[in-house]
Amino acid sequence: MKTIAVINQKGGVGKTTTAVNFGAALARMGRRVLLLDMDPQANLSLHLDLRPELEAKNMTNLLVDGAALGELVRPTGTERLWAVPADTSLNGVEQVLANRIGRETILREALEPLIAARSYDFVVIDCPPALGVLSANALVAAQEVIIPVQPEYFALQGMAKLMEVIELVRRRLNPVLRVARILPCIVDQRTRLTAEVLAEIRGHFGPLVAQSMIRANVKLAEAPSFGHTIFQHAPESNGAQDYLAFAAEYLGVDAAMPQTPAQAGAEEHAAEA
Ligand SMILES: Nc1ncnc2c1ncn2[C@@H]1O[C@H](COP(=O)(O)OP(=O)(O)OP(=O)(O)O)[C@@H](O)[C@H]1O
Ligand SMILES: [Mg+2]
Repeated sequence: MKTIAVINQKGGVGKTTTAVNFGAALARMGRRVLLLDMDPQANLSLHLDLRPELEAKNMTNLLVDGAALGELVRPTGTERLWAVPADTSLNGVEQVLANRIGRETILREALEPLIAARSYDFVVIDCPPALGVLSANALVAAQEVIIPVQPEYFALQGMAKLMEVIELVRRRLNPVLRVARILPCIVDQRTRLTAEVLAEIRGHFGPLVAQSMIRANVKLAEAPSFGHTIFQHAPESNGAQDYLAFAAEYLGVDAAMPQTPAQAGAEEHAAEA
C-alpha cells in the first residue's frame, strides 16, 4: 500500500481535483484506492457527493477521538474507489490537538491496520491550503508527495517553503518521504506566460516535474457540482484523458492499454517480489 499526499499550501491550484481524478484514474486502472479528505473545506467529500454533514463519522473523529479508520470508509460511485469524508469540524482540530503529544503521527498510526490487511493499493490524501497539523499528519503518513502547481505568475511563490517543510518532515519524522511528481494543473496553453512559467518550473525542478500536465478544462470544473469524478461526468474530455495519462505516467504503464484488476495485482506483486 502506498500513501500519497497531494499538497501545496497555495490555494486553488488543483489539489482536490487531482486527488479525486488521479485516484479515480488509478481505480479505473484496476487499483484499489482510498481517498482521505484532510481539508476543513471538505471539497473532496462534496466532489464525491458524500455530503459530510450527513455522515455520522468523519476525519475529525479519527484525529480527535481516535476512531478506527476502517470504520470511517465510505464507498463512492466509482468501483474500487473509497473515501473518508471531512466536514468543517476539522477546522477545530488544530486547536484541540495543540498540546497533544504525538499529534503529527495520528494518521500514520491509523493507517497501520490497513497496511497490515493490504486493504488498498493506494491511499491518496487531499491536503488543505495550509501547512498546519493536518498537512503534517498527511506528510508523516505518506511515502510520496504530489505537488500540483498552476503555471501562472506567482506559481513558484511558496514552493521553497513547501520543499523545506517536506525536507524537515523527512529528516525528523518520516525518512522515506519523497516528492513523486510536481504536476502542472489548470494549464492554459494559449498564453505565452504559461509557456514561460512552465519552462521556469522545469528549469527549477527538472525531472521532478511530470511529463504529463492537466490542461484547463471546463468539464473538470463542472464535475464537482454533479458529485462526479471526471470519468463519470465526461469520460471523453481532455480532463479525463489528462488524468489517465498522468496516472499511467505515475504507474509507468501505457495509458492506451486498459488494465484488468488481475493484471494490476500481478504487477503489484511483481513489484513487491
Ligand atoms: N484543469 C482544470 N481546468 C479547469 N478548472 C479546474 C481544473 N482543475 C481545477 N479546476 C477548478 O479550479 C478550482 C480550484 O481547484 P481545486 O479545488 O482542485 O484546487 P485546490 O488546490 O484543491 O483548492 P484549495 O486550496 O481551496 O483546496 C475549482 O473550482 C476546480 O473545479
Ligand atoms: Mg482543495
